[in-house]
Amino acid sequence: MRAIRGRFLATGAVFALLCAPGLTVAQEREAAYVSANCANCHGPQGRSGAAVPSLAGLPSRYIVEQMQAFKAGTRPATIMHQLAKGYTDSQIELMASYFSSLPRP
Ligand code: HEC
Repeated sequence: MRAIRGRFLATGAVFALLCAPGLTVAQEREAAYVSANCANCHGPQGRSGAAVPSLAGLPSRYIVEQMQAFKAGTRPATIMHQLAKGYTDSQIELMASYFSSLPRP
């Protein structure tokens, strides 16, 4: 039930993404695709409300730096170091602009 609700809300996150400033239509589409996976742990629209940190409203630069640090293994993590390796630098930039455009919880 919780998973189904999460998926429904993740769709909402994708709609909100369409309002993210400064992205072309093609970038919005790709950002929606890559950011939807993050909602599984970081919550719909980057608001986790739990032990996993919320991403909504974090500075774009900070998100990029953390993702690069996870990727490089310079920031210790339980899971993010594995996930971060699956994304290209441009996908990370897109996710960062998306999450930074959302209001801080
Ligand atoms: C399987 C669960 C899971 C998924 C999926 C996930 N994360 Fe995370 N994320 C975590 C956890 C847990 C942490 C805390 C660091 C750790 O232990 O890995 C974290 C930390 C972070 C941080 C650091 C936040 C801070 O306040 O410093 C960023 C940025 C981040 N994740 C981005 C993402 C992005 C972008 C995605 C989608 C590609 C994503 N995460 C997908 C679990 C997840």
